[in-house]
Amino acid sequence: MKSTTRQHILGRLSGSLNPISGDLLAQELNLSRAAIWKHIDILRKLGADIQAHNGLGYQLCNDFFSASTLQAKCHQNIRIGKNIQHFETLDSSNREAMRQAEGGAIEGTVIFTDCQTAGRGRLGRTWHTVQNALAFSMVLRPPLAPEKVPQLSLLTAVALQQALCQYCDHIRIKWPNDLLIHGAKVSGILTEMRAEPGLVHAVVVGIGINLTLPDQGWPKDIAQTVTDLQSHSKYALSRLQCAAAVLNAMDRWYQIYLEQGFSPIQQAWWQAHAASGQNVRVHHGSTYIEGLAEALDDDGALLLATQHGLQRIISGELELL
Ligand code: BTN
Repeated sequence: MKSTTRQHILGRLSGSLNPISGDLLAQELNLSRAAIWKHIDILRKLGADIQAHNGLGYQLCNDFFSASTLQAKCHQNIRIGKNIQHFETLDSSNREAMRQAEGGAIEGTVIFTDCQTAGRGRLGRTWHTVQNALAFSMVLRPPLAPEKVPQLSLLTAVALQQALCQYCDHIRIKWPNDLLIHGAKVSGILTEMRAEPGLVHAVVVGIGINLTLPDQGWPKDIAQTVTDLQSHSKYALSRLQCAAAVLNAMDRWYQIYLEQGFSPIQQAWWQAHAASGQNVRVHHGSTYIEGLAEALDDDGALLLATQHGLQRIISGELELL
């Protein structure tokens, strides 16, 4: 939504439990009441359920997804969500976040998009952003050496697992940072950075979450391996609530990381990992290694006890056995 006036109105309505009068909105925006009414009417046509209460004013009665309604749900955050933007279509929210990071965007900038024409996954794969999914990317500027940046992907997996667990008890992490429900992928994370030796300029963490089964079904190439959150949840999902839960959890875990380092994340990750202490196979191109998942090391590598001794796995595709 381009109009800053409508963003303001939505932000005010979603930040208040009580109705807000048209007079007050008109004063704040230096507009007439008739002009406010016109903006309200446009917002209703876009899907916002704005009720008018006689003599009291306007009230937002649904979880209308927009940058400002989301911002209102993240107002207590220290970093993540200080600047939220919402696009209808982008090539990739990671690319847009990186373009903005290179242009000086503040830490905690979050870019949401409803549709991606060139969504990207890990290992050079394509990411399908299906109908009603969440696709967004965050700009971080951590005081870190570049080799520590993979820790942020693990941190994100922990935050996601914790945020989504309120909708479904069965969400587990699969190394390094996929989120699974009963073995099928519900969410993925793509972390990219701009750095020079010894110094990180910006990190972009992109998250894709499948919220509902698309009307036309899953794209054929992923149908066997993916699932959606709604099919496993007792509650009707709201894109807005779900996005806010993830951003709030990200903000909390990022703060813990900056204050206490990687150790709390490492512990939480290991507890949420689907294959901790179990046998796994890690594929790398046409080869694979099998072993017992023993631990996650400080750099985010998986330590496997194999028949040739302990092996440190830094990349690949993990298969649960
Ligand atoms: C993976 O599991 O392969 C990672 C998927 C990451 C997808 C998200 S959707 C939002 C952001 N923009 C992208 O182009 N990719 C990430």
